[in-house]
Amino acid sequence: MVQAMRSMRDVLPQEARSFRAVEEAFRSVLCRFGYEEVQLPVLEFTELFARGVGESTDIVEKEMYTLNDRDGDSLSLRPEGTAGCVRALNENGLLYNQTQRVFYSGPMFRYEKPQRGRYRQFTQIGAECFGFAGPDVDAELILLCHEFWQAMGIAQGVRLEINTLGSSAARAAYRQALVDYLTPLRGELDADSQRRLESNPLRILDSKDERTQAIVAEAPVLESFIDDQGLAHFAQLQDHLKALGVPFVVNPTLVRGLDYYTHTVFEWITTELGAQGTVCGGGRYDGLVEKLGGKPTPAAGFGMGLDRVVLLYEALNPDRADSAVDVYICLTEADMMPMAQAVARSLREPAGLRVRVHMGGGALKKQMKRAAGCGAGWAILIGAEERAEDQLTVKNLLTGEQTRSATAAAIQALLDAHPGLA
Ligand code: HAM
Repeated sequence: MVQAMRSMRDVLPQEARSFRAVEEAFRSVLCRFGYEEVQLPVLEFTELFARGVGESTDIVEKEMYTLNDRDGDSLSLRPEGTAGCVRALNENGLLYNQTQRVFYSGPMFRYEKPQRGRYRQFTQIGAECFGFAGPDVDAELILLCHEFWQAMGIAQGVRLEINTLGSSAARAAYRQALVDYLTPLRGELDADSQRRLESNPLRILDSKDERTQAIVAEAPVLESFIDDQGLAHFAQLQDHLKALGVPFVVNPTLVRGLDYYTHTVFEWITTELGAQGTVCGGGRYDGLVEKLGGKPTPAAGFGMGLDRVVLLYEALNPDRADSAVDVYICLTEADMMPMAQAVARSLREPAGLRVRVHMGGGALKKQMKRAAGCGAGWAILIGAEERAEDQLTVKNLLTGEQTRSATAAAIQALLDAHPGLA
């Protein structure tokens, strides 16, 4: 049998339910903040990511799925959503002289070493804001995540780290100072950091290698290169977060792996998932619109890794109600199907109850096993007597209690038992 490519994951029904719960909760928070959805292509010209994300980032250097199409154009599956979002809004005239707050959701692709929480196809929900220069929008993006964690009941499992990278000029000056400091010590750095010294020296600050960390601890600090305006932006962001009641820690070594960031960067991190603990990352990227051919436009956003949020949600909610079906309808004769479907409809439509009608016949005992097996809370039995007297037998599958009553009354009792779904 042909198999899936490694780490291009199948999300099977049980996990898909958690995905949906997480995605719907997040969409609902985004919509309540007035963000609008955009749907963007999965395939773009490779150049977009090379220019947008940065030639020397790990993502562009070694993680993209790139192919040539029949015209010889180099295309890549999107490894992230920000560059494509900027391209789309700019190309459609939605950035110049106006502000935007948008979100997108969908698969991203990176050829990374697979492990729990790190996949080659994964799903992000991203939010991006354009035309806002102040720290208030940085704070709003963070608040939005904070409210989402609370809505999902997983706020206790994540912490927020923030940092500032200053303006691009400050970052360039710092980069030079870092290279000057590290070059004589090159031989003592870990292999990855040696490679990054030319391509992406700021990422060396992120190294997990102990010896490199000790060297980095003595390195010049980014903060001393940041101008007054940059420092004021960061101070105001912290004031906003305190006023909004969002706890945070400042992590001066947080630099993020994509080249476009300026000023604010942030990550939400959990300790529940081992090595792949970053569930969301983002920040400000004031230079990117211009770099991709638009007019200078301040911008900020984040990407949330849904696969990791789902793992976190499941880890923190082991007892979550986890079933696709509320009511399972059993019928003893095939010609009872119209009655079964009519009953199902009267439960589905008003209350959104999830109702599965048994198919394929078989003994009632077998049908009841199916009802229990799919996790339904209730079974409805339609037999010869029920049909003759226009009644239903309803069994509560948790308590085993069973009652027979007129069809209309039985339906009403089930609807009354699920007021939250209406
Ligand atoms: P990123 O940090 O590369 O940022 O990705 C954002 C999130 O996507 C990560 O925090 C992680 O949860 C998830 N993620 C990344 N790679 C994988 C993977 N291989 N498997 C599973 N989950 C993964 C960005 O992509 C930026 N576009 C975020 C952004 C938007 N910044 C500003 N606006």
